[in-house]
Amino acid sequence: MMGPNSVRVLAELFDRHPLQLTANDQILDLGCGTGLTSHIIAKETGAKVYANDLWIPANENKKRFAQWGSGEQVIPVCEDAKDLHFEKKQLSALISIDSYHYFAGQEGFFQEKLLPFMKDKGVVLIGIPGLKDEYEGRAKELLSGWLGEDAYMFKSQGRWRALIGSHDRIEQAETWEMDCFQKAWSEWLATNNEFARGDRQYFETIIKPYTCFVGIYIKLKPNSIL
Ligand SMILES: C[S@@+](CC[C@H](N)C(=O)[O-])C[C@H]1O[C@@H](n2cnc3c(N)ncnc32)[C@H](O)[C@@H]1O
Repeated sequence: MMGPNSVRVLAELFDRHPLQLTANDQILDLGCGTGLTSHIIAKETGAKVYANDLWIPANENKKRFAQWGSGEQVIPVCEDAKDLHFEKKQLSALISIDSYHYFAGQEGFFQEKLLPFMKDKGVVLIGIPGLKDEYEGRAKELLSGWLGEDAYMFKSQGRWRALIGSHDRIEQAETWEMDCFQKAWSEWLATNNEFARGDRQYFETIIKPYTCFVGIYIKLKPNSIL
C-alpha cells in the first residue's frame, strides 16, 4: 500500500459500476504506484492492463507482476499522465486510484489528455482523496498542517464534477463521496509504513473531519465519429 487501501477503493468502484470486459480489452491503470491495483484489475477482468506510473520505474513493477503471476497480462509503463502515448481509441477502460488529483486538477485535462485514447462506450473509474462538500475552496486553510504545499490538490466531489466538464463523446459523468473512506484509511493506518505513521497523527484532527474519498465515473457514448 502507498496510501489508504487502494483495493478497498477499487472494490467500491467495481461494485457500483461493474466492468464487463474480455481478454481482448485493454485497460489503463493510471498512477498505479507499485501495481497492486493493476494486478487485481487483471485478475478480476481478464483484460490486458497497462500499469502506468511516474515515480515507480517500470522494471521494478515488471518484477512484481512476474512474482505475483500476472506478468503475461500486465504491462508496466513509466510515463507522465500529461503526455501518454497510447493509440487513439485504444482503451476500453481507464482506472485511477489515489493519483488523479496529482495531475488532473484543471478544466479540459480529461478531454485533452485522456479522452482521445478511450474507445467508444469506454468507462472511466477514479477514486481520489478530496474535500467534503461543505469545505470546498478551503483546502489550504484546513489541510496545510497535514499536506503542506500539496493541500490545493484536494477538491470536493462537486468541484471534480465541474472539472470533468462535458464533451460530445461523454454520455454520463457522476461524482460522489465514497463509502470506503473509514475502512481504507483504517487499513492504511494499521500498517507500519513510515508515511502511515506520519498520517496517524493527523487522522482525528484533519483527515477525518474535513476529507473524504471522491469517486468519479464517466461513460462514453457508442459510435462517435469524433
Ligand atoms: C499515492 S500514490 C498511489 C499509488 C497507487 N495508485 C495506490 O493507490 O497505491 C500516487 C501515485 O501517483 C503517481 N503520479 C503522480 N503524478 C503523476 C503523473 N503526472 N503521471 C503519472 N503518475 C503520476 C505517482 O507516481 C504515485 O505512484
